[in-house]
Amino acid sequence: FSRALKPAALAVQNGAKNFSTTSQRNFKVVVAGAAGGIGQPLALLLKQNPLVTRLALYDIAPVTPGVAADLSHMNTPAKVSGHKGPEELSAAIKDADVVVIPAGVPRKPGMTRDDLFNTNASIVRDIALSIAQNAPKAIVAIITNPVNSTVPIASEVLKKAGVYDPNRVLGVTTLDVVRAATFVGEINGVDPTSVAVPVIGGHSGITIIPILSQCQPALKLSDPAKIKALTERIQEAGTEVVKAKAGGGSATLSMAYAGARLTASVLRGLKGESNVVECAYVKSSLTEATYFASPVVLGKSGVEKVLGYGTLNEFEQQLLKAALPELAKNIKTGEDFAKK
Ligand code: NAD
Ligand code: LMR
Repeated sequence: FSRALKPAALAVQNGAKNFSTTSQRNFKVVVAGAAGGIGQPLALLLKQNPLVTRLALYDIAPVTPGVAADLSHMNTPAKVSGHKGPEELSAAIKDADVVVIPAGVPRKPGMTRDDLFNTNASIVRDIALSIAQNAPKAIVAIITNPVNSTVPIASEVLKKAGVYDPNRVLGVTTLDVVRAATFVGEINGVDPTSVAVPVIGGHSGITIIPILSQCQPALKLSDPAKIKALTERIQEAGTEVVKAKAGGGSATLSMAYAGARLTASVLRGLKGESNVVECAYVKSSLTEATYFASPVVLGKSGVEKVLGYGTLNEFEQQLLKAALPELAKNIKTGEDFAKK
């Protein structure tokens, strides 16, 4: 468990900021699944990002052109286009710099994220195929669950098409980082935007591993039982929302916030800013899991460097040990589906 490069917590604070060195400041961003619970508020936030000059909204829902028309009246630079149904997918994706994918069904109470696989796997596969054909250099940020499996699916599709670049495919785990910072902020009695907690592993249950020992500022908890309870709250925070929505879906607004943050960091990397760091689920050789979430440096071609996860304490090492077989299983499920 010491195959780590350096402690990462400091850097994982709202995607550490630095000065820009240049260049491209006009990017086309696509939201695939743009009419949904996540898609709409995510599009709203992206329409406010000055680096987004074209915002393409794709969904199968009839309301999609209306969502685009609605957002297009906002007096911000991004030109908005709406694309409804599979016959308009290519036009949406064409020449995208970034494709964010929240398309697919969410959980209801009693379901696991893996229960979504049968429906969501083919949705992600089809969108990935269009990316391979229409924007093979795009950075792909996948929100659709189960993320542990949908990222391998998209990767295999791009591989089959001969355009796979592991640095350009990310699973979005930012919500886990956002939640960890929120809960630690509450416990420490500080502004949660000033808190940084790396969250590694994957994005479901025991594969979500918050590294509370690397919390910045330090977590004001020493009782191991309380640290365990906080860890489990972070791991089960998605389920907390699913239960509270009582059949009405899962996290959408906090996810849109987290997705907009990740996308903003990807764009800052693309435009040449240095030291842009976020946690994301990416192709990785840090552990025996072939995809793994950890802090990564985002640059001009996506993931510039996969950072390590620093030193884990005994409790965190146990969490990692428990997560790895589950992750490996989820990855295999995704790869097997895509290879069929
Ligand atoms: P939603 O049902 O509100 O919206 C999903 C949208 O996807 C709908 O508008 C639907 O029309 C669209 N869609 C369905 N099939 C499509 C296709 N083939 N092509 C394009 N669009 C299609 O669901 P939601 O609450 O927005 O959640 C979306 C996904 O995000 C779910 O899988 C959910 O589990 C996942 N999620 C992930 C995270 C995370 O942290 N990564 C957090 C929250 C939710
Ligand atoms: C989340 O963490 O909120 C999402 O993965 C949605 C879910 O099903 O919990």
